[in-house]
Amino acid sequence: MTGIWLIGAYGAVSTTTLVGIAAIKAGVAPRVQAGIVTEAPECDPIRSKFPLEKMVMGGSEVRFLDRNGFQASEKIWEENYHFRRKYLDAGKNELQKFRAKKGTAINCGPGVDALGTLETLEGEGLTLSEIIGKLMKDYESFKNKTGEAVVINAASTEPHITLTEEHNTLDGFEGLIDENKVEKVTASMLYAYAAMKQKIPYGNFTPSHGATVPAIRELAIREQVPYMGDDGKTGETLMKTTLAPMFKMRNLKILGWAGFNILGDDDGITLSKDENKASKIESKDKAISSSIGYSPFSITEIKYFPPLVDHKVAWDYISYRGFLGTKMALQFTWHGIDSILAAPIVIDIARSLLFAKSRGEFGAIHELAFFFKHPIDDIIGNTFIQYKFYMDWITEGRKVELEKMQAKIISK
Ligand SMILES: NC(=O)c1ccc[n+]([C@@H]2O[C@H](COP(=O)([O-])OP(=O)(O)OC[C@H]3O[C@@H](n4cnc5c(N)ncnc54)[C@H](O)[C@@H]3O)[C@@H](O)[C@H]2O)c1
Repeated sequence: MTGIWLIGAYGAVSTTTLVGIAAIKAGVAPRVQAGIVTEAPECDPIRSKFPLEKMVMGGSEVRFLDRNGFQASEKIWEENYHFRRKYLDAGKNELQKFRAKKGTAINCGPGVDALGTLETLEGEGLTLSEIIGKLMKDYESFKNKTGEAVVINAASTEPHITLTEEHNTLDGFEGLIDENKVEKVTASMLYAYAAMKQKIPYGNFTPSHGATVPAIRELAIREQVPYMGDDGKTGETLMKTTLAPMFKMRNLKILGWAGFNILGDDDGITLSKDENKASKIESKDKAISSSIGYSPFSITEIKYFPPLVDHKVAWDYISYRGFLGTKMALQFTWHGIDSILAAPIVIDIARSLLFAKSRGEFGAIHELAFFFKHPIDDIIGNTFIQYKFYMDWITEGRKVELEKMQAKIISK
């Protein structure tokens, strides 16, 4: 068996992943050309090693803990109707057995507070080391059941807190934990730290800190655990990092790129709060410069628009300059359903990290940059180059020197 542990288990992305896996296992949902990259024949080394039929799900949540996986998925489905009802019903037996465990929401910001009543481990009066102990226990019993496990953070986006000297070393970070310095950590750091302690790979589908903190990266190296992030590349940013290279290849100068996103649902509520939104905008903005090597004038805006629920509309306006200095423009609108785009990528990241572990690789797996808006260590954003890194890694085991994979930003 292969265990995937989802943080934010009852959110839109996670429940869509749960339903998708259950419906595929029940034999009713399509899996060919259905958005799962690792189901393509080129990815057979991964597909055959970690088949979807053998996937078992677990997860952490801070809301609706009295619900089972079916009830949580049904609630999201009733708000979105984002797939056919028969898939939910086909997975009912399996989803009913799913129960999320209580997690932590330390320093998750006003965006998460706005989601309503939270049920958290700190709410029970637990200290940081007790919270980590509880998370480690949850992971451990899941791993004992499944044999192999991976943690994917698909919880609401946290604000970034200021990192200080203590975050730079494992000793420093563990000092913060021992002294219960709650103001110095965020929930995603605790989830990532606990995963590394249990030697479980960690994928950061959000822009939250998670495993990017140097102390936790040090722990990953010490425990020989693979990880990668940040922030799943599924919609507007996928378009940006696919279109921007076209301008570069034709030697056309991008003068400015304005992107306006509107979205509904709980992710929209979270991202309507400035602190939570800042983490997301940072990861979206870097995508263009890391694709073309310079930073054109850019506007990235995200607004909450409840009628859209889980649908997302992005309108992008790109001003560019060509022959004789003549200015021209390209505009596009993107209509996506966030969780339908995200769920297969969650599966891909999970499988790829397990594949890395099975090959004895650890630390940041930069070859997975293809799946992220802001790949750790500033890997090139260009989707085509990222795809080649990924495919060469799967089929030939080729690792490229980090320096050769990094984006070089030559001018503002
Ligand atoms: N296409 C996409 O949908 C997409 C792409 C890239 C990144 N993401 C990111 O994935 C994450 C999930 O998106 P979503 O649409 O499912 O959001 P959502 O709001 O529907 O779900 C998030 C879930 O996380 C839970 N949660 C919040 N803080 C938590 C914590 N500290 N511990 C455990 N659970 C917690 C919430 O209760 C909620 O159920 C967001 O951070 C989003 O920005 C989504």
